[in-house]
This record gives sequence, structure tokens and C-alpha cells, in this order.
Amino acid sequence: MSVEYRRAVADDLDVLMGLEQSLFANDAWSRELMAAELANPQCLYLVAEQSGEVVAYSGIVVAPGGPESDVQTIAVVAEARRQGIARELLRLMLDEASSRGARETFLEVRVDNPGAQALYELLGFVGIAVRPRYYMPDGVDALVMKKELP
Ligand SMILES: CC(C)(COP(=O)(O)OP(=O)(O)OC[C@H]1O[C@@H](n2cnc3c(N)ncnc32)[C@H](O)[C@@H]1OP(=O)(O)O)[C@@H](O)C(=O)NCCC(=O)NCCS
Repeated sequence: MSVEYRRAVADDLDVLMGLEQSLFANDAWSRELMAAELANPQCLYLVAEQSGEVVAYSGIVVAPGGPESDVQTIAVVAEARRQGIARELLRLMLDEASSRGARETFLEVRVDNPGAQALYELLGFVGIAVRPRYYMPDGVDALVMKKELP
């Protein structure tokens, strides 16, 4: 099935919050935080659609004029996984971060999420630190990963 990628807009908030709550459970962002991210010009949020339905989304924040960027989130609904959608979302976001002047990007991932870690390693991210009990209320550590951008 073909996939279309586009920028997320404020009108996507309801759909994104529905996905956020079903995909991240205890780690789900609040509606206020998601709305603020969508409205932040330093952020780039993308959605992927199949047959007109949003099946994935991702976001990155790029420091203005600085070398740093941070992958904020990425998620794909279970039925649309392992089709390369997350890889393409990351590619599009990192290209845009690069064109905005970012030279490196960081992210945090739960240490108990080997699938996401495999995706990031495939794309050239390397683990650089562990943040103990970063994910609350579960008390799960975060692995901090970094990738140099061209
Ligand atoms: C992690 C996630 C975003 C991956 O999305 P996806 O669209 O299925 O990933 P892709 O199809 O682009 O995967 C690209 C490659 O990454 C690796 N990969 C992705 N998911 C993997 C998994 N569950 N186990 C092992 N490797 C995986 C594989 O090498 C894969 O290539 P392959 O399918 O040819 O083997 C998705 O599983 C998800 O939304 N999970 C729940 C939310 C989440 O954990 N988000 C990350 C928070 S840090």
C-alpha cells in the first residue's frame, strides 16, 4: 500500500493524541504538550498516511542556528510496521534538520525497547549515555543515542 508523507498541522492534534495514547500508554504526552510541539516553529512534525488514514508520526526539534537537534518522538501503528515507514520519517526529518543547520542529533529510547534501538542503530545512531529512571512512572532507564549529520 502506498504511503504519503506530509507535515503535521494543528488539525491533526485529535488524531495524533489518539495514536499517542494507544501507542505510548504510560509515556504518552499530554494534549497541551503535543499542541505546543505542533505550534513550535523550531519543531518539524511529520505524518505518514495510508489510504487517507494517519498511520505514523514523528517530530524533531532543531536549535535555532545551533548544531543540535533532538528527535522528539516517532511511532507507527502496529498494522503498518516493518514497511520502512519509520526509516523514511527519520530520513525526511534528519534531512530537514541538516538543511536548517543541525550537525548532530540526539534521542532517548527506553532500554527495554530493542526494536526502536535496532531502527536507530541501522540509521547510524550510537548509544552515548544512560539516564536512570528517565521514563516515569515505570522507572525505566533511557539510552541516549547520537548521530552526526552531514
Ligand atoms: C519502533 C517503530 C517506530 C519502528 O517503526 P517501523 O515503521 O516498523 O520501522 P521500519 O519498518 O522503518 O524499520 C526499519 C528497520 O528498523 C529495524 N526494526 C524496526 N522495528 C524493529 C523491531 N521491532 N525489531 C527489530 N528491528 C526492528 C529493522 O532493521 C527494520 O528493517 P527490516 O524491517 O527490513 O528488518 C515502531 O515499532 C513503533 O512505533 N513502536 C512503538 C512506539 C515506539 O517504540 N517508538 C519509539 C520510541 S523511542
